[in-house]
Amino acid sequence: MVKNIAVIRGDGIGPEIVEQAIKVLNKVAELYGHTFDYTDVDMGGCAIDKYGDPLPESELEKCIKSDSVLLGAVGGDKWNDVPGQMRPEKGLLRLRAGMGVYSNNRPTKIWKQLADASPLKKEIVDKGIDFIIVRELIGGIYFGEHKTEGDTAVDILKYSEAEIERIGRIGFETARKRNKKLCSVEKSNVLDSSRLWKKILHRLAEEYPDVELSDMLVDNCAMQIVKNPSQFDVVVTENMFGDILSDEASMITGSIGMIPSSSLGASSCGLYEPIHGSAPDIAGKDIANPIGTILSAAMMLRFSFDMPDEADAIENAVSAYLDAGYRTADIMSYGMTQVGCEKCGDLIKSYLVK
Ligand code: IPM
Ligand code: MG
Repeated sequence: MVKNIAVIRGDGIGPEIVEQAIKVLNKVAELYGHTFDYTDVDMGGCAIDKYGDPLPESELEKCIKSDSVLLGAVGGDKWNDVPGQMRPEKGLLRLRAGMGVYSNNRPTKIWKQLADASPLKKEIVDKGIDFIIVRELIGGIYFGEHKTEGDTAVDILKYSEAEIERIGRIGFETARKRNKKLCSVEKSNVLDSSRLWKKILHRLAEEYPDVELSDMLVDNCAMQIVKNPSQFDVVVTENMFGDILSDEASMITGSIGMIPSSSLGASSCGLYEPIHGSAPDIAGKDIANPIGTILSAAMMLRFSFDMPDEADAIENAVSAYLDAGYRTADIMSYGMTQVGCEKCGDLIKSYLVK
């Protein structure tokens, strides 16, 4: 198959981690007889420097026209003082909205090789950690009105029934393919938008009798993720709650550097990115962990290109790399072999077999 991949290297560690994922994708292409063509797209701080805009329309167009988008990370201290509309992150939000990718899937799964890297007690980890956070990605407070008047700042959190229903469906469909347990997370004891969320989720539940729906308040969920994570199968939640909970959840697996994500909308053209940020403090030092990006590339093959064998091959190569005892600094532990970002990419590529 021939696929065109829009590649956003972005800022900070973005370029170095994306390079490793491309290495791995090229090996997949070679082994399985595919052609992956790459179109470079500027977004984030580097685009502000070049065009004075974090995502010029022409760059967004390239993404929309591609078969899928692979993204490293954007942002950095250098652009911290620019106005809100011009921040590097605004480019990312415009990209998500422009591509219409409302459904963000963030797996929280502990690799058996990394059980020791989890900050949780062994008896909690041993019960198994394997759940997915389905995060609404193009609505809510991120996309409501933002304004500052005098000494007062306002951000509006707004959801329509239709927006809740389409992400709710993804939650149910995702649970249906797994252990059939869906936990809807909201703050219905305080927020109107959450009460609407809960109502719509329960209405949808009638269409999915095979899925067990439960409700959880977001503050309780934050606690349950560290107290008893094995209770979760699929969590569905709104944009900002999902942002916060997915960072928390990633940490119980050992490192945020390991977690990939997929974002999809109505078409098969998806956006694939690790959930971590651009980590400017370690940029260019060849110490970042590229696995979150490499696994995001695997998700692209699985969800957008219908290449499940190829996706499995990448995941198996990551597992073989961990089995062999290699670790980047973020997950380094006693007796393991520490490697840099580039070496990590080379090794995973070398473990990739058909
Ligand atoms: C994420 C990030 C982004 C978000 C930032 C960079 C805008 O934290 O993908 O989780 O808040 O969505
Ligand atoms: Mg985040």
